[in-house]
Amino acid sequence: MTDFIAVERQGSVQSIRFNRPEKKNAITSAMYNAIASALRDGDASPDVAVHLILGSPGIFTAGNDIADFMSIAQGGEFDPDASGFLQALATTEKPMVAAVDGMAVGVGTTLLLHCDLVYASPQAFFKTPFMDLGLFPEAASTLLMPARIGYGPAFEMLCLGDGFDAERAQQVGLVNAIYPSAELEARAREVALALAAKPAAALKATRRMMRRDPAQVLARIDEEIAVFRERLRSPEAKRAFQAFFEQRAAAPKRAVGE
Ligand code: COA
Repeated sequence: MTDFIAVERQGSVQSIRFNRPEKKNAITSAMYNAIASALRDGDASPDVAVHLILGSPGIFTAGNDIADFMSIAQGGEFDPDASGFLQALATTEKPMVAAVDGMAVGVGTTLLLHCDLVYASPQAFFKTPFMDLGLFPEAASTLLMPARIGYGPAFEMLCLGDGFDAERAQQVGLVNAIYPSAELEARAREVALALAAKPAAALKATRRMMRRDPAQVLARIDEEIAVFRERLRSPEAKRAFQAFFEQRAAAPKRAVGE
């Protein structure tokens, strides 16, 4: 159990919210586990038709908690809850809608490839700095990113790693529409409720045929994890994690709201 993921239901829409804004919604093992459970429970519940993935005002998520990456880099085990989360994303049977305000880093961006509809605010920014961290893409993004946005933009995203603003993300097809921050969640919820009102069996069958075979996606997740695990222990990755925390320790603390 963790308070850093908030699960609520409005009508037949289940919202799953990253709720650790003081750490930019960086995702821990317990958070992965909580999201995977919410997806599985929602899939099993007749009262839930659609999952809605949300962040906090101004931040979707800064991706995996780098302290957890550091402990794996120093010899700890790869997090089974992270794998379970990725498997849950790949096999979720009900539509997933996401609303992104602010940064979506690493898995914050790659998880969106499993979502059926993605909405963003003009402040959204999508970034996968895997190369700069000495890491490797995950969440089947080596398969799903080129399929979703085309090879060139996918290579730019995964290998150059500079990231896309909301406008570019919409242009390449990662984002369906852009709404002002103040309206974003309401608009995404409206769409989720509209989807939830469609005949469930027709929607489920259509979605299943439109998506890749889950077995193929799961196999790619495993292949990527095998490389990712090696990369986490590379000297480049260790240096990058150390640099992240050293920079934050050296930076003057800002007051809340500054
Ligand atoms: N893991 C752990 N802690 C993180 C984190 C992460 N991924 N991202 C942010 N935090 C923490 C910071 O350490 C800081 O904690 P502190 O206040 O105790 O020092 C707090 O969240 C605020 O982060 P800060 O970097 O000061 O905010 P910012 O607005 O200047 O920058 C980001 C926001 C998202 C651009 C920046 O935090 C960042 O680049 N994070 C790392 C993203 C990343 O590389 N993720 C892994 C992808 S594979």
